[in-house]
Amino acid sequence: MASLDTLFEAAKSIQTKAYAPYSRFKVGAAIATPEGQVFTGCNVENAAYPVGSCAEAGAVSAMIAAGGNRIARIVVMGEGDVLCTPCGGCRQRIREFAAPDTPIHVAGPEGIRKSFTLEELLPFSFGPDNLTDR
Ligand code: THU
Repeated sequence: MASLDTLFEAAKSIQTKAYAPYSRFKVGAAIATPEGQVFTGCNVENAAYPVGSCAEAGAVSAMIAAGGNRIARIVVMGEGDVLCTPCGGCRQRIREFAAPDTPIHVAGPEGIRKSFTLEELLPFSFGPDNLTDR
């Protein structure tokens, strides 16, 4: 698995690529897979505001497109002093490919600010297991 330092630098780097002319709030996300790969994403806004997408969604898409399907850990980097925890929708996106104890590291430009487990951010979640007996 990629080191936390590597993941932090990857999130910081992709954050600069964000397209966020409306919110002016750039976000970068970097996923480490158990196989040692790193996939990144940034937020991509749109003049039709609801069509914009989050950094985490981009990173998940990149992982899936490359054939990965497990998140070992993820770093999310936002701007400003307030903790940039993943939005509700992105917690669910991460949940699809992660375990309850998967770490979600919230970062600022200076470093990791706080680390959570998926279960802390999305308790009693709905997931693939709910649909296994269909
Ligand atoms: N944003 C993300 O990319 N990830 C999150 O988890 C929270 C919010 C983006 C969406 C939008 O482009 C901007 O931050 C402001 O909400």
